[in-house]
Amino acid sequence: MRQDPAARITLHRNWDDYHLLRLETPDIAAEAKPGQFLMIRISDALDPLLRRPISLHAREGGAVEIFFQVAGRGTALLAQKKEGEALDILGPLGRGFDLGTDVQGKTAFLVGGGRGIAPLFFLSRELRTRGAKVKILYGGKSLRDLPARQRFLRDGADIACATDDGSFGRAGFVTGLLEAEIGNAAPDLLFVCGPDPMMRATARIAQARGIPAQISLESVMGCGFGACWGCVKRIARGDGGRWRKICEDGPVFLADEILWDGDA
Ligand SMILES: Cc1cc2nc3c(=O)[nH]c(=O)nc-3n(C[C@H](O)[C@H](O)[C@H](O)COP(=O)(O)OP(=O)(O)OC[C@H]3O[C@@H](n4cnc5c(N)ncnc54)[C@H](O)[C@@H]3O)c2cc1C
Ligand code: FES
Repeated sequence: MRQDPAARITLHRNWDDYHLLRLETPDIAAEAKPGQFLMIRISDALDPLLRRPISLHAREGGAVEIFFQVAGRGTALLAQKKEGEALDILGPLGRGFDLGTDVQGKTAFLVGGGRGIAPLFFLSRELRTRGAKVKILYGGKSLRDLPARQRFLRDGADIACATDDGSFGRAGFVTGLLEAEIGNAAPDLLFVCGPDPMMRATARIAQARGIPAQISLESVMGCGFGACWGCVKRIARGDGGRWRKICEDGPVFLADEILWDGDA
């Protein structure tokens, strides 16, 4: 983990309340892996005090990109940052996705819901570089919740979309799209990030069909690197449930390991 107290913003784009920032930070970019995240100091003032966790969306040379949706005060302040300003960041943090030793020729479905699409762009590039056949399944409430779609298309990705209101792509949840795509041809690997109910449903689909799935969990975080225990969740590693730190042991876990709220 490194701290860059002055990662300069060289690009800021936005689509309604979704924002993309490019941060010049060569040392962090050099170590970055898909599924890892940054802890970003939002303000020099005391409020908001805690850094906010945001996934690595892409690496572009000596820069990294983040893609986020305004969710509250911290992300609203982050959305006001301008090109030329600098951010104090820690990273890369967490263990990220396990890409295995050989994905050449394997098929991978990357399932993203809403802002959960953020880490999957970096992952898609990395998997395709290693010879995997990647399909992106991207879901949102409506078309305006799919702003990353064009970027995937420009990158040459194979992408299918679903919207809850039917305004674009398949009508309904992205889990319905996943089941339809699996019906055509089941993938070797599944990678998932999105709201909890969507990830839980996706985990069930994967488990029912014996498809190994990696799921990127979210949690409110204090430190981001294992010091505060502010992010723990109960994860079952074959021992009936142990508290694990999402920041340090995750944020990516195997679907088989996760105990969802309400599970015994
Ligand atoms: C490892 C990790 C990676 C993330 N990557 C991204 C990303 O790439 N893009 C993106 O848009 N968001 C991402 N998030 C979520 C993002 O961190 C939260 O939206 C943000 O911290 C909210 O801060 P805020 O001050 O704007 O909102 P707050 O005012 O603090 O909270 C607004 C609402 O969001 C809830 N909330 C706050 N923090 C989290 C959290 N960590 N997880 C779930 N709900 C939360 C609060 O309970 C509240 O209901 C990630 C979270 C984690 C843990
Ligand atoms: S956020 Fe502090 S231990 Fe995970």
